[in-house]
Amino acid sequence: MNSDSDLQIAGDLLEVLHLLRPPREHPATVAEFAGLARTLAADRAQWAPLVRYDTTTRWYHRLRTGPGYEVWLLSWVPGQGSGPHDHGRSSGVLTVLEGELTERTESGARTLAPGAQRVFAPGYVHDVVNDTIGPAVSLHIYFPGLTEMPMHAASCAPRAEKAVHA
Ligand SMILES: [Fe+2]
Repeated sequence: MNSDSDLQIAGDLLEVLHLLRPPREHPATVAEFAGLARTLAADRAQWAPLVRYDTTTRWYHRLRTGPGYEVWLLSWVPGQGSGPHDHGRSSGVLTVLEGELTERTESGARTLAPGAQRVFAPGYVHDVVNDTIGPAVSLHIYFPGLTEMPMHAASCAPRAEKAVHA
């Protein structure tokens, strides 16, 4: 108990719910966006039936939108990758749902297993690839919604291209 204060709530706390801040309907902080991604990841019935795999082009599906953000579902067949890119003025949360992805950046490569999350700020450059022999699925939240995804050469110099999500 905090002895610096003599403030106490007397009576039944359930009777003062009107004084508490109601839960937000939409995420607003990085932690809340990451939490939304974890909640969606755990709700397999909501995304698993939607997943398609396309060997000719990267498959993605907008799962939901909210004020100032978008949630995308992506699939990756073996060998598919995004190429080095950034996310324009969007921040994002990448969460692996199934399979395994490799994220390459200038500072090295990391393996992302199911449940792994990467939070990135505007301007963050990475290359995401499925280096395994099995398919992978990932969930991406962008805030604000992704409007451009500049591609980078190996030297990481940007060249403009339309958004294709990763
Ligand atoms: Fe990306």
